[in-house]
Amino acid sequence: MDRDFLQIEGMSRAELEAMLLAAESNLPIAEQRQPRKHLLDGRVVANLFLEDSTRTRCSFETAVHRLGGQVFTLTAAGSSASKGEGLIDTALNVEAMGVGAIVIRTSISGGPAMVAKRVRIPVINAGDGRHEHPTQGLLDLVTLRESLGDLTGRRIGIVGDIANSRVAHSAVQGLSILGANVVLIGPPTLVNKSQGLIAKTSDKISITHDLDSIIGELDAIMLLRIQMERGASSGISDDYRTMYGLTQDRAKRLQSHAVVLHPGPVNRGIEIDDAVADEHGGIRILRQVTHGVAARMAVLEWALASQATRG
Ligand code: CP
Repeated sequence: MDRDFLQIEGMSRAELEAMLLAAESNLPIAEQRQPRKHLLDGRVVANLFLEDSTRTRCSFETAVHRLGGQVFTLTAAGSSASKGEGLIDTALNVEAMGVGAIVIRTSISGGPAMVAKRVRIPVINAGDGRHEHPTQGLLDLVTLRESLGDLTGRRIGIVGDIANSRVAHSAVQGLSILGANVVLIGPPTLVNKSQGLIAKTSDKISITHDLDSIIGELDAIMLLRIQMERGASSGISDDYRTMYGLTQDRAKRLQSHAVVLHPGPVNRGIEIDDAVADEHGGIRILRQVTHGVAARMAVLEWALASQATRG
């Protein structure tokens, strides 16, 4: 059976809910209230992080440790990727060392899927270009469910650089599968290209360019990082914060139960003001990070529980 975890798009509701339940059951271990598992005793997981990362890379490493396994991480600097070795050749060489699974972060949209066609071990997507960041999607859903319960009919606003955001793409897919209403919010340059995403998901997704008109109706607001490295800055005026930043004034207009998510890294003073990030009662940014360990444990368990190799 295929045990790659490449995207949330295409998962059934049952599959997604099973993964979320598994992640939620791992929380006591992620929080070190329960001892680690031994599922990966004697197993090695390879992290190929050919694009920079703090949260995803370290939480995959932590997740492997919490499952009793060992992990090594290759980055572009310091590996033969810097000499021009491609993603697939790198993955084939790592597979030949006998690792149990490969976790891949790459700027190439579809890169993990290409690798999965060539190797016989599970491949896990840790964020590929503008395509998806499925384990981020899982941790976002775990965080929302912890605060809001069943997400059916809940109104979730995603603010910012939707067009460039693999985080948004996975979140929209997951929220759509779980029956939430999603509002994509941002300037036309960053949001209007999302029509294809809407067409692929459901009629419960809408677009607005006016955050102030809707902020008081949201159950949750997910702020996205403006991705300068993907060219987002060319379409953004200096007053992004004025129109779309979660300022203190705007935060006061959130419903009392509403929660605030951000995948990180946070551009303080652009997407969110310092005082809101540090003091608002609805902030769940570090909670998301903890949930990332639990979610990645669940994905690794799913990928590695029944078999080490395919074919
Ligand atoms: N959320 C996220 O993907 O952060 P990193 O780029 O630090 O992994």
